[in-house]
Amino acid sequence: MKKYKVGIIGYGGFGKFLHYWWSKIENVEVAAVADHGSHIQDAKNLKLYSNWEDLIADPEIDIVSIVTPPGLHAEMACAAMRAGKHVLLEKPISITEEEARQIVEMQKQTGRVITVDHMIRYNPIIQTFKELSDKGVFGKIRHAVVNNYAQDESLAPEHWFWNKEISGGIMVEHGVHFFDIINALGGQKREKVCGVSHDRNEQQRDRVSALVLYNEGLIASYYHAFSGPGFFEQTTIELAYDLARIEIEGWMPMKGKLKVLVNSDTRPFLKNIPGWKENHSENFAEMGDESRPEGWGSSQIEEEKKKGIYAGGIAYDTDQMVLGTFEIPQTKGEVYGNCVQLILSDMIRKIEDENHTLAITLEDAFEALRTAILASN
Ligand SMILES: NC(=O)c1ccc[n+]([C@@H]2O[C@H](COP(=O)([O-])OP(=O)(O)OC[C@H]3O[C@@H](n4cnc5c(N)ncnc54)[C@H](O)[C@@H]3O)[C@@H](O)[C@H]2O)c1
Repeated sequence: MKKYKVGIIGYGGFGKFLHYWWSKIENVEVAAVADHGSHIQDAKNLKLYSNWEDLIADPEIDIVSIVTPPGLHAEMACAAMRAGKHVLLEKPISITEEEARQIVEMQKQTGRVITVDHMIRYNPIIQTFKELSDKGVFGKIRHAVVNNYAQDESLAPEHWFWNKEISGGIMVEHGVHFFDIINALGGQKREKVCGVSHDRNEQQRDRVSALVLYNEGLIASYYHAFSGPGFFEQTTIELAYDLARIEIEGWMPMKGKLKVLVNSDTRPFLKNIPGWKENHSENFAEMGDESRPEGWGSSQIEEEKKKGIYAGGIAYDTDQMVLGTFEIPQTKGEVYGNCVQLILSDMIRKIEDENHTLAITLEDAFEALRTAILASN
């Protein structure tokens, strides 16, 4: 088995996290890091470069992981591919569309493998809901609400995160994760984006929100605030399908609730949901419809409903309601670590088999960026 040598550019908070988790993968060796800060000395027993260009010129390195602030991503990713390296680029792909196009162009010219670390896609809850959505188990998706209350206690006003020239702003630096997830779950094309934002002062735009309309009618609302105490840090993703209501908790999704209308064909799929625990189920025949008080006359639609469920103009063949909860039986660190291991392994699979399709393509990352830029107005 070939052991792939990885060089990490940017040995800050996340670069160290990647080093820790990738060191546990059998066919991977983190062989070098590059960082212009003195904290590079924290890295032990591997090559250290104070100049990132020296790392990409190192003939031993197969894969370059770029974990620097977003404004540097395009230059570094293009240079690494030009030097013959495969690239695992941190999100966002870049901070402008022009830069993202340069990356796409360089990939075409060099044929190198590159993916962008939208690693929440590998979370087992997101993966399972995507699989069940794609199979049509939940019917059509109509609404998504992402609410993200993040703390800003560890983000000093001079942190690069607040500088739009370096980070791209909250929607670009952070919001891209969630545009990417909803793009994956919804499978629809973006049609319209309306964004609003609040500036705390001239340097700090601390709260942003956007509504996005997609081509098959999905409307998604996104809210990201970096303005609260750590105690109130909370992220929720609510999904409304014709046949399901899903509430997911956690920036790294960890648990949640599901209410779903099923039939005997679709019910068995619920067992695929991580940590699925059914709390209640009922046949429609035994249930009252509280949306229609007693005495209300019946209609043609009411007649249809007797055969199943009629929603959003579609008749669905379902006869039971099921309520339950789900939860990944691991720590957040383990789930997160596993996601970053899976994306690297996916990339290695693509290096070894050109017919393999990456879970996250450059086009996926580019689309998340385009939406983020439109949402940043
Ligand atoms: N995928 C995820 O879940 C996830 C999570 C956190 C951060 N990130 C991304 O990772 C990137 C880095 O974020 P972070 O939180 O680790 O930031 P950070 O500030 O902690 O680390 C960035 C590092 O890059 C180094 N650096 C900056 N300019 C450099 C240069 N020219 N040459 C060499 N080194 C340079 C800095 O010295 C620092 O050590 C960002 O793109 C961020 O969006 C992704």
